[in-house]
Amino acid sequence: MIRSRIVSCGGYLPEKVVTNEDLEKIVDTTADWIEQRTGIKQRHIAQDDETTVSLAVKASKIALENANLSAEDIDMVIVGTTTPDMTFPSCAALIQRELGVKPGKIAFDVQAVCSGFVFALTTANSFIATGQAKRALVIGAETLSRIIDWDDRTTCVLFGDGAGAVIIEACEGEGTIDDTGILSTHLHTEGQLADILCASGGVSTSGEAGFITMEGKEVFKHAVTRLADVVDETLEHNGITKEDIDWLVPHQANSRIIEATMRKLDLQSDQVIITVQNHGNTSAASIPLALYEGYKNNAFKKGELLLLEAMGGGLTWGACLVRW
Ligand code: ACO
Repeated sequence: MIRSRIVSCGGYLPEKVVTNEDLEKIVDTTADWIEQRTGIKQRHIAQDDETTVSLAVKASKIALENANLSAEDIDMVIVGTTTPDMTFPSCAALIQRELGVKPGKIAFDVQAVCSGFVFALTTANSFIATGQAKRALVIGAETLSRIIDWDDRTTCVLFGDGAGAVIIEACEGEGTIDDTGILSTHLHTEGQLADILCASGGVSTSGEAGFITMEGKEVFKHAVTRLADVVDETLEHNGITKEDIDWLVPHQANSRIIEATMRKLDLQSDQVIITVQNHGNTSAASIPLALYEGYKNNAFKKGELLLLEAMGGGLTWGACLVRW
């Protein structure tokens, strides 16, 4: 059986940092409110000359270097993003050109907002499992600051910009839970809840990207329940218990949502990657940035089980179980 294993990670955050104290000066909020309700202390914001693609290219170069590979070794690029540089072509096509991935290889974007990386990783894994690709660059990259209404205190304090990249490649497995690599993936969407978290515009409606609007409390409630459900689904599908999970690598939206999943799994804080304090909610970039954090600190040991999970606009949610 063909499995996909993670061979390296990379990440990049723009240099410009906006702290909670900085936000106190532009909207009616306090640094304490933001930190207590969300865990966020600061976020990184792209400069005018930085874009989703430029952040993604920086993260990808780090992932390639860490794997000791060149762009020519990649035969697939998938980008999870909601904030593309252009309506078309895709960010993936632009990144292919910028990095020098060979012409004719596969490159496209997937759009599942904050679940974008889980959806992109699942897609890349399927291409590898069916022999259509051997080595994929899977990216989550966003410049959410471009769709933030900086006068809206209920959303502008939550989001930030960034990019993370992961290289996965085909490896032989036995088809058992002991295999290395991606063991299972679980994706869900409920368009019936589209309106509780969305952007207020679009190409075919207003002709503009619009701004993020969110019914925060509703989204929070759904996040906690949907993530609990998908964790159960993943454990059950693989015939394992919560004690088997070594690491939770969650989407970084709100530390209180992360803590709810942590409690459900009876995990200690040193078994959970939490980076939300440093960069806020970077949407599709947050899981690969969290993976990069664990990777560069050598946190994950060979054979350990990682549970990746996310929930975002759509609503979309999902999980991936990975043996390191
Ligand atoms: N500063 C100060 N007060 C504020 C702020 C702010 N920045 N924002 C809201 N408030 C006020 C509200 O107006 C409200 O005041 P009121 O009681 O007088 O009406 C009060 O604080 C409480 O507001 P709530 O919305 O009830 O606060 P809550 O505890 O729910 O926290 C939050 C809000 C942080 C947004 C939370 O609901 C949340 O994290 N939701 C989920 C977000 C998420 O996970 N998104 C994931 C996907 S994002 C994506 O896909 C792009």
